[in-house]
Amino acid sequence: MACFDPFGRKIEYVRLSVTDKCNLRCFYCMPEHFKDFTPPASYLTYDELTRIIAAFAELGVFRVRLTGGEPLVRKGLAGFAKQLYDIPGIEDLSLSTNGVLLEKHAEALHEAGVRRLNISFDTLRENRFRLITRRGGSLEKVLDGLQRAKEAGFAPIKLNMLVMRGVNDDEVVDVAHYCLENGFALRFIETMPVGASGQRATDHYIDLKEIRARLDEHFNLVPSIMYGGGPARYVKVEGTDVHFGFITPLSQHFCATCNRLRLTAEGTLHLCLGNTVNFELRPHLRQGLSDDGLKELIYEALKLKPLEHNFLEKPQDVERAMSLTGG
Ligand code: 5AD
Ligand code: SF4
Repeated sequence: MACFDPFGRKIEYVRLSVTDKCNLRCFYCMPEHFKDFTPPASYLTYDELTRIIAAFAELGVFRVRLTGGEPLVRKGLAGFAKQLYDIPGIEDLSLSTNGVLLEKHAEALHEAGVRRLNISFDTLRENRFRLITRRGGSLEKVLDGLQRAKEAGFAPIKLNMLVMRGVNDDEVVDVAHYCLENGFALRFIETMPVGASGQRATDHYIDLKEIRARLDEHFNLVPSIMYGGGPARYVKVEGTDVHFGFITPLSQHFCATCNRLRLTAEGTLHLCLGNTVNFELRPHLRQGLSDDGLKELIYEALKLKPLEHNFLEKPQDVERAMSLTGG
């Protein structure tokens, strides 16, 4: 069983935001005093979310990524991960986290079946971490979390660095060395105008070609591929297994191969990160929908998937904060 959108793209991947709450306040993601979080009372329960993912699995989705906000601030995440892992057809379970709570949960998550890990990682400097995330004292926790994740056996571990001019672009080579030493993959991401905070942050936008050129001065990079569901283009450092990836939604967009949908904690499907079209499953779910009815609704929602994002033509279009869908 497989499902396709109106443009013939096969949908195989759901990014599931289990909460839009976060223990950090990265300036490119949400306002410092952001209050407009989804009330937890309207979250779908883990059982309801499991039911939705099971329906997707019957339609051919085999990858699920847990995201937030910060997914680890929602209680019982490892138990939920196990529920998802047990769904027939779900073969690839991954987690995106800021890493602050990772040390505590790494083992349980790995035991639950989560194998691949993405960590937001913009800087190796504590003072800068505080400026970017507006929460101090946590970089050390992230670094400890990464070591614990390595010990727990996660592979691959990918660090995501949002490269911003005048903010952290001078650290690209340092972070690359850190990843080389630790066997982590490092992905560079272009700043996207998602939400008011993202729109302001695009003042710091850098085309990643510039970053690639800088890396070439320090490392011998050869073309490579790396397992994953996403649009990163990879190179690896010659003579090692360490990969660098480039995620370029603006300078070279990859909408033609988009394979994913996003589901929020309250059961809203977002058909595209760079577009406002969405479809609410929750009201239907709570009116005693059958499993077949649920699959029908997913088909209906899929028909709304747009061809591509509007980041360049209408950068003000997407008002929701990145924390609602977790990237
Ligand atoms: N542009 C690009 N990526 C973003 N993220 C958050 N806000 C933005 C933005 N405006 C990324 C973070 C994190 C993930 C959750 O989303 O880097 O890795
Ligand atoms: Fe939290 Fe991630 Fe947004 Fe930072 S980017 S505030 S870590 S959700």
